[in-house]
Amino acid sequence: MESFVFHNPVKLIFGRDTLPALKQEVPKYGKKVLLVYGGGSIKRNGIHERTVSLLREVGAEVTELASVEPNPRLETVRKGIALCRSENIEFILAVGGGSVIDAAKAIAAGSVQEADVWDIITRKAEVKGALPLGVVLTLAATGSEMNSGSVITNWETKEKLAWGSPHVYPKFSILDPAHTSSVPRDHTVYGIVDIMSHVLEHYFSKAPNVPYNERMCEGLLTTVIETAPKLLEDLENYEYRETIMFCGTMALSGVLNQGMPGDWGTHRIEHAVSAVYDIPHGGGLAILFPNWIRYVMDEAEPKMAQLAVRVFGVDPEGKTRRQTAEEGVDRLREFWSSLGAPSRLADYGIDDSRLELMAEKSAPGGTVGRFRRLNKEDVLNILKMSL
Ligand code: NZQ
Ligand code: ZN
Repeated sequence: MESFVFHNPVKLIFGRDTLPALKQEVPKYGKKVLLVYGGGSIKRNGIHERTVSLLREVGAEVTELASVEPNPRLETVRKGIALCRSENIEFILAVGGGSVIDAAKAIAAGSVQEADVWDIITRKAEVKGALPLGVVLTLAATGSEMNSGSVITNWETKEKLAWGSPHVYPKFSILDPAHTSSVPRDHTVYGIVDIMSHVLEHYFSKAPNVPYNERMCEGLLTTVIETAPKLLEDLENYEYRETIMFCGTMALSGVLNQGMPGDWGTHRIEHAVSAVYDIPHGGGLAILFPNWIRYVMDEAEPKMAQLAVRVFGVDPEGKTRRQTAEEGVDRLREFWSSLGAPSRLADYGIDDSRLELMAEKSAPGGTVGRFRRLNKEDVLNILKMSL
């Protein structure tokens, strides 16, 4: 393993009917609350009304920032910062999926310092502090509810960038699996692909002697593979939603990858695709990840063969390690396709006209990925494989 320090301060409040915990948690941080949410799903499923009424019960003064878009945009973050300043906001409550949480994190950091928020996101300015924020999660996917990362899109410059700071760990995250039962089928699938992709990003690591990390990753993947098809047959099933929600949070909480830094090249490439075409993150990952594994197969072969046998049920008998590994990638692709995930950029109407731009945006510093460093040419090849 590599040496590591693990410190995740997020208070997770998990289970049915946990929303009233807001009444204990929010008053610890202040009265003036900015409620951040997306395009209206929380109004349709009643979570908005219940949240506002619980906040009012403890005397909170609520200001709202609605309409955070999927793949949240810099302008919306700027609007939130302006509101925090004009309304003297003391606490931010994000109610939604990863996009809402990520926007709330950028607002929290951007509103307490002089530096422009885009300088924070591009890492030109140091994050010196943040308003405290809490989360009510409504979609299982990103793990943003239990990590210190955030991904923001600057649509003008076609950049979608990940940044992070210990200052933006949520103070608490309330996870009631019932809050995810209204997530439509397509976003449920994107969430499942994203969760599995986070585990795969960890798994392809060069760190030596990581047997327990690998088993944790394999256990999570196996659980998702067993549960996902059942959930898609029965979208309102509480237990399946519960399992997927817990897996989603664990997958990117820092627990699985302690001492085992992963690759993250596929995520960088996907963010570049989303920055140019505004497609759902999980949809992009479903297209790209199997192709990334195929492209780096010389390095990935031992890990992929192990995954093929332990997670995808490939029988290695009479096969070379390469054949076993390749069969594993085929099974991964088949599994995602069986859920209805896209497998080609063409599924989103993306052709070869802007591949250069996406490759450029994927690797602005020259290379991308840690397990295998890819240059712009490599990214271009993976994008071509994905057309
Ligand atoms: O906007 P509303 O109306 O709320 O609808 C949302 C949105 O259209 C809908 N939705 C959410 N909860 C729902 C619901 N619909 C019905 N019922 C509910 N309970 O789902 C749609 C997608 O929401 P979004 O928040 O965009 O999805 P997700 O959680 O997948 O977040 C994606 C964003 O997170 C970033 C992605 O790049 C993307 O920008 N990521 C953030 C990470 C992090 N902070 O750690 C890591 C990830 O790898 C990822 O990059
Ligand atoms: Zn992701």
